[in-house]
Amino acid sequence: MKNVKDINFSEKKVIIRCDFNVPIENGKIIEDQRIEESLKTINYILEQKPGLLLIISHLGRPKGKNVPELSLEPIQRRLAELVQREVFLIKTLDELAKTREGNSEQIYLLENIRFWAEEEDADDDFARKITEGFDVYVSEAFSASHRDHSSISRVPEFVEEKCAGILFKNELDQFMKIKNPQNHPAVAIVGGAKIETKLPVIKNLEKNYEHILVGGIIANEALDQGLEFGEKVLLPTDFKPDEKSRLDIGPKTIDEFKEKIKEAKTIVWNGPLGKFEDEEYAIGTKEIIDAIVSSKATYKLAGGGESIEAIKKFSDFSKFDYVSMSGGAMLEFLAGKELPGISALN
Ligand code: 3PG
Repeated sequence: MKNVKDINFSEKKVIIRCDFNVPIENGKIIEDQRIEESLKTINYILEQKPGLLLIISHLGRPKGKNVPELSLEPIQRRLAELVQREVFLIKTLDELAKTREGNSEQIYLLENIRFWAEEEDADDDFARKITEGFDVYVSEAFSASHRDHSSISRVPEFVEEKCAGILFKNELDQFMKIKNPQNHPAVAIVGGAKIETKLPVIKNLEKNYEHILVGGIIANEALDQGLEFGEKVLLPTDFKPDEKSRLDIGPKTIDEFKEKIKEAKTIVWNGPLGKFEDEEYAIGTKEIIDAIVSSKATYKLAGGGESIEAIKKFSDFSKFDYVSMSGGAMLEFLAGKELPGISALN
């Protein structure tokens, strides 16, 4: 897989697929880390004076309809501030066709790619129309690389050159470290909701990890469904406030989990261990974060939206080797699935 350093962008017409799927309320961006993280790649390419720069992203799930609340307008404004250049929002493919007369001082941002139904259909004609006249495709959307969508898996097929952006490459490198941990014992902590997504993750982690500590809603569901796991998988043995409500893991479980974390040399964490947004039921998640932070593990990675929120609340990103902004993509990667957005760059 090529990266930006392998390509000369000068005079080239470049598409960057970003993931600007950020929380927006009443037209205001609440948290813009994903935009900020893509700046390295955007600025790196701009410095080489490309012939044209088009950025593509999705926002939310408009399902092929033009949903005004999911317009990229707030992102256009924020991006223009950050790059200190004009950013033009392109609303139709006809407008996109006209951008070919544009110049390198401008950045073009295509309106929410999911406003076009063809995007989620991974439509080739759509990909062809978008790429017409463009030379290079750069993916900076690792966090959307589990989606077999046109701008992720098809667009790269219709350009001369394609490569991973700086953030994409970094995410992939970090995830490779947890796929086959070099240092053992390796401990995974899996919490949060959506048992159907996390069961394949637990199963796959059993191959290379010594311990998989399971908490949160998925643990409750596993217990309710009487699911059976191998001996590497530890489920909670007590709960707060009680066995019936199970809103947090209990003190005995916290101690059992902490013991494994203390010995770990590699740690990966995705998903809270309880209802951490309620102070009363945040103890399990907080204690586990503290245990990860103070462990002597040589590599500590956390990911997923709720884990990020919990780290912000109870700790600090700098205490981890890597905090990933990928949620679904991280889980599919950990489940051992092939991600269309990675394959498309190979
Ligand atoms: C994410 O936020 O995880 C990515 O942007 C993917 O979004 P999606 O789950 O709507 O495809």
